[in-house]
Amino acid sequence: MTPAAAATVGEALAAATDAIAASGSASPRLDAELLLAAATGSRRESFATEPERCLDGPEARAFGALVRRRVGHEPVAYILGHRGFRRIELRTDARALIPRPETEELVDLALELEPERVLDIGTGSGAVALAVADELPGAEIVAVDVSAAAAALARENAAMLGLADRVRVVDGPVASAEGEFDLALANLPYVREDERGSLPPDVVDHEPHAALFAGTDGLGVIRDVLVALAPGGAGPRCAAVGLEVGAGQAREVAGLVGAAGYPAVSIRPDLAGIERVVVGRR
Ligand SMILES: C[S@@+](CC[C@H](N)C(=O)[O-])C[C@H]1O[C@@H](n2cnc3c(N)ncnc32)[C@H](O)[C@@H]1O
Repeated sequence: MTPAAAATVGEALAAATDAIAASGSASPRLDAELLLAAATGSRRESFATEPERCLDGPEARAFGALVRRRVGHEPVAYILGHRGFRRIELRTDARALIPRPETEELVDLALELEPERVLDIGTGSGAVALAVADELPGAEIVAVDVSAAAAALARENAAMLGLADRVRVVDGPVASAEGEFDLALANLPYVREDERGSLPPDVVDHEPHAALFAGTDGLGVIRDVLVALAPGGAGPRCAAVGLEVGAGQAREVAGLVGAAGYPAVSIRPDLAGIERVVVGRR
């Protein structure tokens, strides 16, 4: 989509919204406004008050290029290179999953339990580890990820946010985290392999597959991590765990958490009412 020469803000937004909607986005107007704000350096709020402002040539070309990427299903967070998560703004790119709103439940759990030492397993961009560090200023956090690329992004985010002194990012599986923890938080991959074909192209064509898929039942990674955290396992001792799960997985994961030596198990819903976080305590 290339906005017509001398298009106004209102015209450019309308054309971009139509093109993005036709590609299947659930939020075409919002996407278009965020991309226009990035292309012009303007605040989104100004589009409502100045719809007749004409875009100059460089603005129109920059906007057209961003809209074409979105029409090609690239997620807005990757195009812009950042995404808000709770109170922090994270750098986002194809090295790691884009943080999702439902994952904020893990941060709420940490705020309730007030742990001093936290382990974030599968940290990706560092979203959970860094939000906990931001909101619990006394907490020390170790964040692990088997993806060296994701761990590098988490380290960049920790440095950018000035939190690197309390968030140590380690490349590797959970067993590479040493010491004892009051709470382990994990949003690990939990999508079944047979769901691959039903995921939107924004996800399956752009986000790292190692962050999404976890075997035939979607529980392969969660199972392995709980074996490592169980007494006698290769992982560190954690007094409590909080695991994000997919819709319909909570009851089975609750059984796995109990079997890993956490007898007090509870399930927390997300804002949509889906059983989202399984909590286990020793
Ligand atoms: C669903 S993404 C979540 C990223 C981040 N925690 C978030 O909520 O935005 C899962 C992450 O777990 C990592 N991962 C996959 N298997 C793992 C394992 N066995 N141990 C540690 N990390 C793992 C992936 O590389 C990926 O970055």
